[in-house]
Amino acid sequence: MTATPPASAPAPVRHYLQFTDLSADDYAHVLSRAAEIKRKFKAYEKYHPLADRTLAMIFEKASTRTRVSFEAGMYQLGGSVVHLTTGDSQLGRSEPIEDSARVISRMTDIVMIRTFGQDKIERFASHSRVPVINGLTNEFHPCQILADIFTFIEHRGSIAGKVVAWVGDGNNMANTWLQAAELLDFTVHLSTPSGYEVDQAVAGLRSSASYKIFKDPQDACRGADLVTTDVWTSMGYEAENEARKKAFANWCVDEAMMQAAKPDALFMHCLPAHRGEEVSAEVIDGPQSVVWDEAENRMHVQKALMEFLLLGRVTA
Ligand code: CP
Ligand code: NVA
Repeated sequence: MTATPPASAPAPVRHYLQFTDLSADDYAHVLSRAAEIKRKFKAYEKYHPLADRTLAMIFEKASTRTRVSFEAGMYQLGGSVVHLTTGDSQLGRSEPIEDSARVISRMTDIVMIRTFGQDKIERFASHSRVPVINGLTNEFHPCQILADIFTFIEHRGSIAGKVVAWVGDGNNMANTWLQAAELLDFTVHLSTPSGYEVDQAVAGLRSSASYKIFKDPQDACRGADLVTTDVWTSMGYEAENEARKKAFANWCVDEAMMQAAKPDALFMHCLPAHRGEEVSAEVIDGPQSVVWDEAENRMHVQKALMEFLLLGRVTA
């Protein structure tokens, strides 16, 4: 016989470890909350739903945008922040991740982690009493894609049915775009150099129905509504830098690629960018680029995400 849980049983903790951790319906809610929370911020309206709540941020890799957007965002919601890095905590002295999770989640209300393997954040989450958010792993960067989709919607409306061209590495950003395409009904045109392809199993996809592979990056851009790329060498892969520079030489988003896309195509890059490598200065600093909106929107969408994970479907 299955035991009936007591009426007062706490709601199960929801984590955000990959893009598929929220449903399409959850995204509709979070994206609309992000727009409202952004409006309040621009109007200097105080909004403190997370008063007395604490966010722990754990960084095992460098960051500018993720750190500032989570920290500023949590203060703006009335909460506070604890910042830990591998170098200044016991995480760097081999304390097991499971023990760190048990301890940190007894003292804080929500945790954001930037680390290496996805397995590490999953182990942390499975021992955490509070929601855990992926602030980037080798495999995924869901907060970034959430911001990118919000930015696309702000500029062009719904992303359903649209074409996103991914030019470059089959990395954490590419994997997350593919998860988003499957969930939110758009198509990704993927062009990666040989040896740097996306691995469908690592990306956690159900099928190959929502993406198409192109050898030539210019062909991937043809007819796209959005062209996007990322650094040739992600954090943690620095030893491969010289080999990657050679392999990726033809995967620079330039004006010719943007001309192959739709005339009103947007350009996005999660940043930091290397002008003259994965993107030309003319493109990233040009009229189709929305990279600064994209960076700012990290903060608005993450505020909506934290509100959702801690308070559920708020409508105020
Ligand atoms: N895009 C992004 O995550 O930037 P940071 O590495 O600066 O956090
Ligand atoms: N793919 C890049 C994204 C940086 C925000 C990296 O993992 O380093």
